[in-house]
Amino acid sequence: DQERAQAYFDGIIAKDSRIEPADWMPDAYRKTLTRQIAQHAHSEIIGMQPEGNWITRAPSLKRKAILTAKVQDEAGHGLYLYSAAETLGTSRDEMTQQLLDGRAKYSSIFNYPARTWADMGAIGWLVDGAAIANQVPLCRCSYGPYGRAMVRICKEESFHQRQGWEILYTLSNGTPAQKQMAQEAVNRTYGPALQMFGPPDDQSPNSKQSMAWNIKRFSNDELRQRFVDMIVPQAEALGLTLPDPDLKWNEERGHYDYGELDWDEFFGVIKGHGPANAQRLAHRRAAHDNGAWVREAAAEYARKQADAQSQ
Ligand code: ACO
Repeated sequence: DQERAQAYFDGIIAKDSRIEPADWMPDAYRKTLTRQIAQHAHSEIIGMQPEGNWITRAPSLKRKAILTAKVQDEAGHGLYLYSAAETLGTSRDEMTQQLLDGRAKYSSIFNYPARTWADMGAIGWLVDGAAIANQVPLCRCSYGPYGRAMVRICKEESFHQRQGWEILYTLSNGTPAQKQMAQEAVNRTYGPALQMFGPPDDQSPNSKQSMAWNIKRFSNDELRQRFVDMIVPQAEALGLTLPDPDLKWNEERGHYDYGELDWDEFFGVIKGHGPANAQRLAHRRAAHDNGAWVREAAAEYARKQADAQSQ
């Protein structure tokens, strides 16, 4: 029977069709998807912090309203993704505990501080831009609940990217000091945003199998290249530069060449040694503890409802 189930699974993957929660799947497929979706969910939740920190300091009521909406979207993405991951059999409580204990990874990019208002622009343009480049192919992921979640999330990410671009455009066309602030935020964010796509392909242990299973559709380096090609003309339109002296059009390849990224920095950040790792986790733990009364009240309410129904 195991053989028949495996053959059925292989057939679905070969047809480029979808696996659903009740279908049989290899343990390793379940495990890697749980890992990726949970990391993705944690990234959305931790990713609320650098921007949440700027809501009270946004320069106008309109900017405040937009930023609040964006941070709320991120909470929504996180909850959506935890639900998708739960269909694979791990509870949200367990995933949350892994994050709070420091056992689970989340995206490296959220371990950098957001220093000025211009960082809201750079995060929207470059971080959400990288997220979209990475996530559009995930809409075709072989695991149904993840692929479907990605469709909606990508639509909202497009709005996030445009609002970031618009912040930078406004600053770039403002006073010299505003333009400089925009340029400095881009300088800070560029390298870490390119690292969001993960390590280079020859140091990416999960890619080969995830691509064979139609979870990932492109390698880390392929998506990174696609992103660089996309942002170069956008930077020109903004009137800003990208901080890479090696960035230049390669006629033969039909792509932009770009300089080596600081991979020691990247591996340090994902081991917990980035500039804001400790602060991000401490904040998340405190928020979790402060929310204990809500969880208790909800559980008590559910218990009373169940009691009332059984009478
Ligand atoms: N930050 C933190 N950890 C990372 C990053 C990163 N930018 N890139 C790779 N890693 C981790 C991987 O999770 C993996 O660790 P693990 O085996 O302990 O889980 C290890 O580094 C090796 O990397 P890969 O073998 O390349 O891992 P994978 O095949 O999972 O590819 C990738 C990494 C591209 C990030 C993939 O997991 C993915 O597409 N995830 C979904 C998108 C996502 O999580 N986005 C979050 C940021 S966007 C946002 O939230 C707005």
